[in-house]
Formats: sequence, structure tokens, C-alpha cells
Amino acid sequence: MSNRSVIFTGIKFENPFLLSSAPPTESESNIMRAFDAGWGGVVTKTIGLHPVVNVYGAKAKFLRTSPDDGRVSMKKREGAALHSSWNWELISDKTLDWWIPRLRRIKAAHPSKVLIASIMAGSGNDKELKAWQTLAIACQENGADGLELNFSCPHMDRKDMGSNIGRDQGLCSVVTEAVKEVAKIPVWTKLTPSTSDIVLEAGACIRGGADAIVSSNTFPSIPVIDPETLEFEINVDGLVSSGGLGGPAILPISLAKMAAMTQAFPTMSFSGIGGVSDFNQAASYFLLGCGTVQVCTSAMLDHAVGPNVIKKLLDGLDHFFEIHADKGWKSIEDFRGIRRDRVVLQSQIRRPSDADYHEGFDGVEGYAAPDEVATT
Ligand SMILES: Cc1cc2nc3c(=O)[nH]c(=O)nc-3n(C[C@H](O)[C@H](O)[C@H](O)COP(=O)(O)O)c2cc1C
Repeated sequence: MSNRSVIFTGIKFENPFLLSSAPPTESESNIMRAFDAGWGGVVTKTIGLHPVVNVYGAKAKFLRTSPDDGRVSMKKREGAALHSSWNWELISDKTLDWWIPRLRRIKAAHPSKVLIASIMAGSGNDKELKAWQTLAIACQENGADGLELNFSCPHMDRKDMGSNIGRDQGLCSVVTEAVKEVAKIPVWTKLTPSTSDIVLEAGACIRGGADAIVSSNTFPSIPVIDPETLEFEINVDGLVSSGGLGGPAILPISLAKMAAMTQAFPTMSFSGIGGVSDFNQAASYFLLGCGTVQVCTSAMLDHAVGPNVIKKLLDGLDHFFEIHADKGWKSIEDFRGIRRDRVVLQSQIRRPSDADYHEGFDGVEGYAAPDEVATT
């Protein structure tokens, strides 16, 4: 019999699928419904200490693409398929005090499910580092099984917050270390994918003591402009600012980020996010070395917490074990990472003929090879 359960950073999960930190996990009732629906764990909407006021109007929308003209637009069109989500939503607008009794109640109601608290503060000075510790202690004392440090929110104006931490190796280490000083539960760090080499920031988090690396958050992006109205498809008073792209469009880019990290740190724990709606996409993350997978966009579109998505993920996992029955796999651990080393340099990929391929450099010119000369 195959086994859906995993141990990830020392935490036992009945299955490796979590709702990621986002609207599906913004309230107690959503999280309770998510656990009833079968999710193995949730990461709460990010909890902070500073006041949060979101922009006027819609905080998130979905882009769809139509097969006939390939247009990508937020406008609803018959036959159009989901392309991505776009959002400029900030972290939870509820205070830590609001969250504390709710974390406690959720954990009491679902002791076997995994509750990860996503937290965020600044990083500019000791007071801000203390804020991370305050959040960490409050969450761990009130039922959180683990912490996810948000180094990844792509639309923070503050230079010492969100993805601005994830872009700075020094801050990644310092903040992780500050939280680890007080944490008795595992600490995961969620990195922004928007850097040139995510391996560097992952390394900095690991040096700070991170127990797992999580990626991807959404990719910095702006809405498209409607050619008729000349307005951005989301705007407030005609204005827009950079937000985040999630959903199917980011799957291959997120996989590339993950592959780079799992290769660089093969013994570390990784949680994969980006473009997962059923097991077909989750499989890629596991085969590249992830131990858990998180979901946002597809769950938002499925009764807000993804009851059908989690069913498809679980059925898909069972089916995967069945179609690979000849391999004798009993748990995810048996196939985790088996495609990690298949991502190689261009020069290692076979060509029809190697004769004219010089890894992008000029070929050797001038003299014939010495042994050719010797035989003439
Ligand atoms: C509306 C919205 C709000 C989000 N808020 C948060 C957040 O508070 N903290 C966080 O770490 N990620 C946040 N995310 C990012 C998601 O957790 C996830 O990393 C991202 O959407 C990629 O996954 P997906 O392709 O399944 O959507 C948010 C995403 C969306 C769409």
C-alpha cells in the first residue's frame, strides 16, 4: 500500500499538500474548511505587526488566454483558459492579536493537521528584528507547528521588507538567525523568485539556520493595457503599481528556480509553489527534490479553499503510485529528487554532431591538428 504521508522538517504531514499563504488562508473559517476538505497543511496569510491598508477596489484578478487569438486578458471570454493570477494585495490586514486566539482554536480543532504561521516584519534595525521574534514567539506559543518567514512579497514600498529582504543575502541571514534564536519549531524561509541567482539567497538563509526554503512567491508584473480604453485592466484612478503574477504561467519559471536550489543543496528541505492545480504539476516539484507542495491560485478559483483541487492532488498521487507500481515506490521519499540531476549545462546536451559546437566560443582556427600533420 502506498503512503501519502511525509515528514518534512521534522513535521509529520498526512499528505504533502498545503494551501500557501494567501486569501485561502486569511481566516479561521477558511482554514477550518480547508482542513475538512483534506489539505495536509496550511500556511496562514502573512501576519505582521504594522498596520495594513490595501488599495481601493480589486486586490486580485485572473488573466485568461483565448486559443483563437492568444490574447491574454482579465476580461471574461467564452472558451478562454486560465493563464495566471495577478495581485497587489498586501499581507493580512488583521492584527497579531486577532490571529492568536484563532491559531489556538484551529490547532485544537485539527491537532493532526499542520499549521504554519507566515510572518513578516522589517529588517532595518534591532527593533525590527525584535518584531520578527515577537511574531515568532506569539505564533509558536499559540499552536503553530512551524514558521514561514516572508522574504518574498513583491509589492512592499519599504526597502527593508518582503522581497527586498529576499534580494539581500545579508538580510536573509540576519533575519533567519534572529528568528532561529527564539524558535522552538521549524523555520522555513519563502524567497522571492525575482533575483538573478536564487541559490545565493537560499544559501544565505541556510547559513542563518533555515530548516527549509520555499519558492515561488508571485513574479513582479503589471496588468496589460486595454487597447480600446487605453487603461490598465486593473487600476485605481488610472494608476497601477507592480504586483505579482501567479498560476499556470509561472510553473516553468518556478521549476527552474527550484531546480537550481535543489541541485545546489541536495540535502536541504524545499517546499515548491507556483502553478499547481493537480498532481501533474506537483509531480515536477517532487521529482526535482521538493518534500511538500503549496497551492494558491487554483484554490482561489475553487470555492476559495480548493476542495476539488486537494481531491485531484490526492487522487493524482494515488494514481501516480499505481502507474509506477513496477518501481516498488511506497512513499514520496522513494521518488523525490530523482530528476534533480537531469538539469545540466547546454554544453552537456547531445547535438546531431559535436564537430562544429564550441560552447559558444570560436572554433580553433589556423593549423591542422598535430596528428593530422604527422601523417601527411
Ligand atoms: C491575492 C494573493 C495574495 C497573496 N498573499 C500572500 C501573502 O500574504 N504571503 C505570501 O507569502 N504569499 C502570498 N501570495 C503568494 C502565494 O502564496 C503563492 O506563493 C503564489 O500565488 C504562487 O502560487 P500559485 O501559482 O499557486 O498562485 C499571495 C498570492 C495571491 C494571488
